[in-house]
Amino acid sequence: MKSSDSKSRHLITAALPYANGPIHIGHLAGAYLPADTYVRYLRALDKDVAFICGSDEHGAAITLRAKKEDKSPAEIVDKYHKINAEAFADFGISFDEFHRTSAEIHHKTAQDFFLKLNEQNAFEVKESEQFYDEEFQQFLADRYVQGTCPKCGYEAAYGDQCESCGSSLSPTDLINPKSTLSGKTPVLKTTRHWYLPMQNEEAWLKDWIENGKLEGKPHHDPKNWRKPVVGQCKSWIDGGLQSRAMTRDLDWGVKVPLEGAEGKVLYVWLDAPIGYISATKDWAEREGKNWEDYWKSDESRLIHFIGKDNIVFHCIIFPILLKKHGEYILPENVPANEFLNLEGQKISTSRNWAVWLHEYLEDLKDLKHHKDVLRYVLSSIAPESKDSEFTWGDFQARNNSELVAIYGNFVNRVLVLNQKYYEGKVPEAIDLSEYQDIIDQMNAHIERCSQNLEAFRFRDAIQDAMSLARLGNKFLADAEPWKLIKTEPEKVKTIIHLALQIAANCALIFEPFLPDSSASLQSYLHLEGLKWKDLGRIDLLKAGDPVEKGDLLFSKLEDEVVEAQIEKLKASNSSKTEKSSQSNSKKALNMKEIIEFEDFLKLDLRLGTILKAEKLEKSNKLLRIRVDLGAEERTVLSGIAKHYEPEELIGRQVQLVINLKPRKIMGELSEGMILMGEDEDGKLSLIGPDKSIANGSAVS
Ligand code: 2FM
Ligand code: ZN
Repeated sequence: MKSSDSKSRHLITAALPYANGPIHIGHLAGAYLPADTYVRYLRALDKDVAFICGSDEHGAAITLRAKKEDKSPAEIVDKYHKINAEAFADFGISFDEFHRTSAEIHHKTAQDFFLKLNEQNAFEVKESEQFYDEEFQQFLADRYVQGTCPKCGYEAAYGDQCESCGSSLSPTDLINPKSTLSGKTPVLKTTRHWYLPMQNEEAWLKDWIENGKLEGKPHHDPKNWRKPVVGQCKSWIDGGLQSRAMTRDLDWGVKVPLEGAEGKVLYVWLDAPIGYISATKDWAEREGKNWEDYWKSDESRLIHFIGKDNIVFHCIIFPILLKKHGEYILPENVPANEFLNLEGQKISTSRNWAVWLHEYLEDLKDLKHHKDVLRYVLSSIAPESKDSEFTWGDFQARNNSELVAIYGNFVNRVLVLNQKYYEGKVPEAIDLSEYQDIIDQMNAHIERCSQNLEAFRFRDAIQDAMSLARLGNKFLADAEPWKLIKTEPEKVKTIIHLALQIAANCALIFEPFLPDSSASLQSYLHLEGLKWKDLGRIDLLKAGDPVEKGDLLFSKLEDEVVEAQIEKLKASNSSKTEKSSQSNSKKALNMKEIIEFEDFLKLDLRLGTILKAEKLEKSNKLLRIRVDLGAEERTVLSGIAKHYEPEELIGRQVQLVINLKPRKIMGELSEGMILMGEDEDGKLSLIGPDKSIANGSAVS
């Protein structure tokens, strides 16, 4: 049985993003796009689905942002909740509910949940010493304490983590701790908190995670959980769970609803997942449904889509809370993704190293079905089993060589031929028997796609859909109906008929992945009301049905657009670096990923002498440089026009990467890359040898 058939209702959640900044492609690839694809698939199966999300508006992530922007936390969450709700809607993430944890119904739901657990003695109340800022008269959350990392000596480490060496810390580990509020040394003061003794839950958690059993009964198939998710949970449990404070001394958040707990709020990681429940309540009330059918019934499946940094909260802490409460179901699966990197570096909000969703939607709007293009690329590179990498070069290649050259080309070709030969009416299939193999292949791709979607393997599933388009494209190219139209008109009717049926199947199979272009194609083919169960049919269109010629489904992405995006990324990154260098005397190096020695050896670096340099007419950044490498000469385009006059360069010896794949930049071929140093202000300088060496000599 398919997992999606096991229960009659489906509660699908996507991690509540903090309302402290805009959404970027890392967020999309991590949680929102796979969740949306899955939900669209379930809807195509005619399932009863609630797709729940909203803004996470509490915690230090918000108050720190407020401090940075010199605004109140309420102003911050209002600002980013609006920006993110709009960006998700514009992009077509089809939440049934995008709620917010500042809503009254959420505060009430979270407080009631806490009270119920408290009545059941789920917490231990303990006193401990925590840092307190005497000037601001407040206890300091971990992130509000900065000091020197005891592990690496980095001077600006936070109380929970050192961003330079990655060590996980406690505020009292820091050497010379300072409050980020007053800048003064904080004092230790006794405070009281409500702790969740997680160590008491290890036995059932282990059985649940490892064997998929709950109270001795099968709960889910553990083989369906991703390995990195199970691995992370096991290492937490095997390492021994500990008591964790579920309350904080803060004035921003959900108030602890108990006497004697004034000035305390619920820990954000207690309140945020309860946000899924309050959001469901809000949705159910609006839709005239019963929220409890989705949260408290064995006929409901709960699936959490998240990024890997949220695994412990969704697979250990929240399940403990749900089980202790007693009335709730536990997640059937938590398909967490690893991280998406960008152009060789980790995505970073503080360094502005990101592709922001709202900016993408504006900058790429002239690209045909630009939202689907981003969906296609992010699904194709989804970091499902390990971190993956987004590059603009790959984005361009996937658009141009896959969406345009395969899917778009196939659809356009068959629609144009049908218009030309049959005035836009579906021709009759005279004899399909010759093409049974094509029909069988089509069904195999569809079957694989369904299986992969059922198992949350979106990366494979979208390639199955593309294989169907590839099959159609190859079928037409091999059958060459244009060569047969005069001699074998009956055969051409059959070919075009079958190609149109494949195109109709493409319009259905791509729907969960690429909704906009699928809708366009369905409208060209006048398909209506078809569902996933109709996939594989070769009578989706009847002979004589009208079909439009339509527009191209996708358009070519030009080099200039891609270059501009790369430039934008670098420019905003270097201006951020500049700002942070003023405010921070000692910064992290922001080192790229560690590479193997073999990777380094792949680079072929040589010395060469610049023979000629000239400005490129169309660009104020690029110089066209001719370099003598001894055995040969190369032309390289280099972005140093703002840093050197062409004449200054003649005769200079430089270092060149000579085995970099030649690239066309603004229509011209660049056959290598000249190495340069770049300082914090973005100023570039050539790096030459300190005495002359023969051109072509290796650098190692
Ligand atoms: O990591 C984050 O962005 C959190 N705001 C995710 C919360 S998910 C859920 F628990 F609400
Ligand atoms: Zn460190």
